Amino acid sequence: MHTTIMSLCADDVRDLHRFEIKILLALETLMKRYRWVPEDVLCHQTKLSMSEMNYRLGHLMGRNMVKSSSVPYKGYQMVFTGLDALALHGAVRKGSVTSLGCLLGVGKEATVYEAMGMGVVALKFHRIGQQSFQTVRRSRSYMPQYKHFPWIFASGNSARQEYDALTALHADVSVPVPVDINRNLVVMTFIRGLPIVQATLENPEDVFAEVVENVSKAYHLGYIHGDLSEFNVMVDGKKTWLIDWPQWVDPTHPAAEEILLRDITNLCTYFTRKYRVDAPVEEVLAQVVG
Ligand SMILES: Nc1ncnc2c1ncn2[C@@H]1O[C@H](COP(=O)(O)OP(=O)(O)OP(=O)(O)O)[C@@H](O)[C@H]1O
Ligand SMILES: [Mg+2]
Repeated sequence: MHTTIMSLCADDVRDLHRFEIKILLALETLMKRYRWVPEDVLCHQTKLSMSEMNYRLGHLMGRNMVKSSSVPYKGYQMVFTGLDALALHGAVRKGSVTSLGCLLGVGKEATVYEAMGMGVVALKFHRIGQQSFQTVRRSRSYMPQYKHFPWIFASGNSARQEYDALTALHADVSVPVPVDINRNLVVMTFIRGLPIVQATLENPEDVFAEVVENVSKAYHLGYIHGDLSEFNVMVDGKKTWLIDWPQWVDPTHPAAEEILLRDITNLCTYFTRKYRVDAPVEEVLAQVVG
């Protein structure tokens, strides 16, 4: 079994046959009930002939969208690339995405692509694995509908959280504008810039002030980022942007104060160490909540 990171290939999704989409959709539904979806159940659900289905499953497995097992019985699972393909297929049908561009980054919890839609967009596919899901489950009250495959549920939920934050914030705070959501995919406007960790700032004081102002506006709208650091602040030469919002918390959350303090400490530490910006945590905190 291989554990390499599988990513989406535009041609693979474009070339998916409608029977293959049908199989992925059936797996998505049946995985709420089965750890491994039995061959005959899948066949019944898709109404394909066994030979057609096996031929199509061969394609899907070749593209790392589906996995099979022969023990304790012949069965199938959809894996992350399959979920990504369904999400992209949905966004393409809706017209929010017209073509997939290059891969911008593969991380622990998301894969981001540049793409075309109504203008240039960023596609963020959320991938919350089994392990991260445990943390998510502890910190939130809902329970998954996907008993055997909480990653499908958790990834969709993570995308929803991010989409909701961007929707609430984009009019007042400098964040990407949300364009569409489908399953674990968030489509948003593309920022032509870099995370500050990869940039050399000519005006660090101004950038820092802009970040603090945005953190403050978000706070007053009811959103604490929760993972703020030099990796999630982008600059494009004109403006500063706060990205990566799935783990936001409400200021009424029991750990809100601690989480906000951590966000601010991360930023102050970075700007102080790298640029010698005068940024005492307590003062900045007062500025944010004031
Ligand atoms: N709207 C956007 N426009 C342009 N680039 C983006 C956009 N959103 C994200 N990126 C790029 O993708 C990278 C990862 O995005 P993000 O921080 O939202 O996800 P992440 O969950 O941190 O992923 P990872 O696990 O890779 O850190 C960013 O560092 C940035 O380079
Ligand atoms: Mg990030």
